Amino acid sequence: MTLTEAEREAQLNLEQLKQLVGLVEYDADRDPFPVTGWDAIVFVVGNATQAAHYYQSAWGMELVAYSGPENGNRDHKAFVLKSGSIKFVLKGAVSPDSPLIAHHAKHGDGVVDIALEVPDVDKCIAQAKAAGATVLAEPYEMSDEHGTVRLAAIATYGETRHTLVQREVGGVRYAGPHVPGYVARSSTFVKRESAPKRLFQALDHIVGNVELGKMDEWVAFYNKVMGFVNMAEFVGDDIATEYSALMSKVVANGNHRVKFPLNEPAIAKKRSQIDEYLDFYTGPGAQHLALATNDILRTVDELTKEGVEFLDTPDAYYDDPELRARIGQVRVPIEELKSRKILVDRDEDGYLLQIFTKPLGDRPTVFFEIIERHGSLGFGKGNFKALFESIEREQDKRGNL
Ligand SMILES: [Fe+2]
Repeated sequence: MTLTEAEREAQLNLEQLKQLVGLVEYDADRDPFPVTGWDAIVFVVGNATQAAHYYQSAWGMELVAYSGPENGNRDHKAFVLKSGSIKFVLKGAVSPDSPLIAHHAKHGDGVVDIALEVPDVDKCIAQAKAAGATVLAEPYEMSDEHGTVRLAAIATYGETRHTLVQREVGGVRYAGPHVPGYVARSSTFVKRESAPKRLFQALDHIVGNVELGKMDEWVAFYNKVMGFVNMAEFVGDDIATEYSALMSKVVANGNHRVKFPLNEPAIAKKRSQIDEYLDFYTGPGAQHLALATNDILRTVDELTKEGVEFLDTPDAYYDDPELRARIGQVRVPIEELKSRKILVDRDEDGYLLQIFTKPLGDRPTVFFEIIERHGSLGFGKGNFKALFESIEREQDKRGNL
């Protein structure tokens, strides 16, 4: 088990990563499609200039690179922000002819590319083709004064893609701030004096919402094309509230850095949150990104101060004796969780603390989860009902239930 370059730069260690994201030992040599970890998550947004400010001021991220008209990219602006080992790239159209405009008109703000770092792009593409995947970009190289990266891309659900990024070519690692076409950029933004160094250290998982009846197809896609394994929390049955239902299964890469729960709606009395997402995103896409922290109380307090809004959980959740008996002892008194509406779940391996934001943009689509793991490799199965009921209350307010 070794650290990725991004983890080393973020001064994380393997023990922390086992705790933060449930990293496990595995044999990459026997993997037909070895994946090192996340490379960057690319968002298309309506106004990248302003979104870049929001991710710095509210989410404590650091601006590290930029691409735009000033350095020859006349199509769009792109801001690369970092927190711990994860990078977000925010893209917004500059040219009235930019293809990003049609994408944004159709989907609103959202994730277009879940880029993965791989040690060997060509090996992955050969495997992807053999398994029948749609290759969107054949392997190609990009170079600048910092070196060379080798890239390719395959299609996943909806209009989402996985760009595969090989950062070491011919034994030399690319030394630039992101990829060729980007220049290093810092910001004049200054954090509040009391603000922590960062609010999250890593990305834990990204959930994909797919259409009714398509979940198993996408599970099979990740199994066959990318050699992902099914995780223990593999819930085939409907997860139902009184009104709505969905199904969810989880796949992960060999070392478990990259985990993809996949949801599909299920037939129920009313429209599920997945239906609402599919309507407003006009098709499948990334539903939520789970940001890993080692201090969820502090992270939630800081985000709340900055105006980030979380889903509400009724007090009854915390006062339920069954819940108290099930979760047992956690690192903080339950009152601390109750005052912040943080959810808690326990399984045979340990427990986790989690909370969900309201949608990040104008449409009821993509949102974030904050997660603090203590041994549990799950996704909060025990909280699904409470979470969905909370989402339904919001859906109802929007007139979408
Ligand atoms: Fe999640």
